[in-house]
Amino acid sequence: MKKDVIVIIGAGGIGIAIARRQGVGKTVLLADYSEKTLQAAAQDLRGASYTVETQLVDVSDRASVAKLAAHAASLGAVVQVVNTAGVSPNMAPVDRILAVDLYGSAVVFDEFERVIAPGGSGLLISSMAGHMMPALPPEQDQALAHTPTEELLKLPMLQADKIPNTLVAYMLSKRANILRVQASAMTWGARGARVNCISPGIIVTPLARHELESEIGHIYQAMVEASPSKRMAPPDEIATAASFLLGPDAGFITGSDLLIDGGVIAAMRAGKLPTPG
Ligand SMILES: NC(=O)c1ccc[n+]([C@@H]2O[C@H](COP(=O)([O-])OP(=O)(O)OC[C@H]3O[C@@H](n4cnc5c(N)ncnc54)[C@H](O)[C@@H]3O)[C@@H](O)[C@H]2O)c1
Repeated sequence: MKKDVIVIIGAGGIGIAIARRQGVGKTVLLADYSEKTLQAAAQDLRGASYTVETQLVDVSDRASVAKLAAHAASLGAVVQVVNTAGVSPNMAPVDRILAVDLYGSAVVFDEFERVIAPGGSGLLISSMAGHMMPALPPEQDQALAHTPTEELLKLPMLQADKIPNTLVAYMLSKRANILRVQASAMTWGARGARVNCISPGIIVTPLARHELESEIGHIYQAMVEASPSKRMAPPDEIATAASFLLGPDAGFITGSDLLIDGGVIAAMRAGKLPTPG
């Protein structure tokens, strides 16, 4: 008998922590843009007795994501899909951030909605960055939530002259993630499936280390110091929440976003930190 399948897109720090927590007894289909990251993560998981399949994917390429969804469905019932693929403000230019973090996340929802099993659930890792910027006008929220995916990157608000830097591109992408999750709750719900997102704060992974060691590392340090928790978190703390949201105890939760940031956004709203942008 075929095992149930969990698809983990993005074999980085957060993706692997969720795979370890959720993958026991299932086939873990691990996918990433980087062959090296993918094979190293798969070897680690197999060494710990997980059943792992791998596939290269670029979430910004619809054909590549469609191929991944078809492969997942061929392995067994696709009960959980987790998208952790992302690039941070210091890793890529504006157009790549929009292509991977904003458009790519929407593509994953579209393609996996076709194969998710009834009763299944999806999870997107967004970011506290999506909560940082001031509220957008309602028509922009509406556009980010409901514009057909292939039209998204043509929205006037996402054109180069409207986005001054990569941080704004990242914040807008992550805001769009939260809005898209809410919109996708309706279409995934029609298949008897749920979808939610988590907005993490500073989680110590390769991505966060890249930011901390960059020229804006001091901004991240200031966030930690101003926050009520006064610390960063290991990826396992995201995996714990992911496990709840993906599992049966969260059966009434869909279209929701869980902010897990040690209180950085609370500190920002309290005026202890400047609002970036
Ligand atoms: N670590 C943090 O502090 C933090 C905070 C907030 C949000 N996040 C978000 O969490 C998610 C996971 O981050 P992480 O910390 O695990 O980072 P990570 O860099 O460890 O993992 C991200 C993975 O995504 C892969 N990837 C990048 N572009 C891709 C593409 N086009 N297609 C497929 N895979 C691609 C990378 O190769 C990498 O393995 C990201 O979306 C990130 O924005 C992270």
